[in-house]
Amino acid sequence: MPSPLRPLFLVVLTGLGAALAGGACAADATAAKKLHARALAATCAQCHGTDGQAVAQGGQPRLAGMEQEFMMAQLMAFRSGQRPATVMHQITKGYSEAQLTTLAQYFSAQK
Ligand code: HEC
Repeated sequence: MPSPLRPLFLVVLTGLGAALAGGACAADATAAKKLHARALAATCAQCHGTDGQAVAQGGQPRLAGMEQEFMMAQLMAFRSGQRPATVMHQITKGYSEAQLTTLAQYFSAQK
C-alpha cells in the first residue's frame, strides 16, 4: 500500500472496530436486561407459575398478559397496604418501584 494512504487505512480500520464493538455492547445490554427481567419474574414463579402462566390448581392469579398499568397499580397498592393481602403486601415490599415496573412490563408482555 502506498504510504500516504496507510494512516487513512488505519483510521478506517480502527473506526470499524469501534463500531463493531459498540454494536456488540448494545446487544449484550439488551440481552442482559431481558435476562434480568426474567430472573426477577422467576421469583414469582413458585406461586404464579413460570412466566406467570399460573400453576394448575394453584389458586393464584395468572400474571401472563395482565395489563401493565393495572398490575403496577395492584403491586403498589399491596406495597402501601391499601390493598389487603395474605402474602403480596410482604412480597412487594422486597422490591424497588423500578423492579416492580420491570415485573409489570415483563408479565404484561407474556402471552
Ligand atoms: C408465596 C406465593 C406468592 C408469591 C411468591 C408471589 N405471589 Fe403474587 N399473589 C399471591 C397471592 C396469594 C395473591 C392474592 C393476594 C394475597 O392474598 O396476597 C397474589 C396476587 C398477586 C397479584 C394480584 C392479581 C390480581 O388479579 O389482582 C399480582 C399482580 C401479583 N400477585 C404479582 C406477583 C409478583 C409480580 C410476584 C413476584 C415478585 C408475586 N406475585 C409473587 C401469592 C404469591
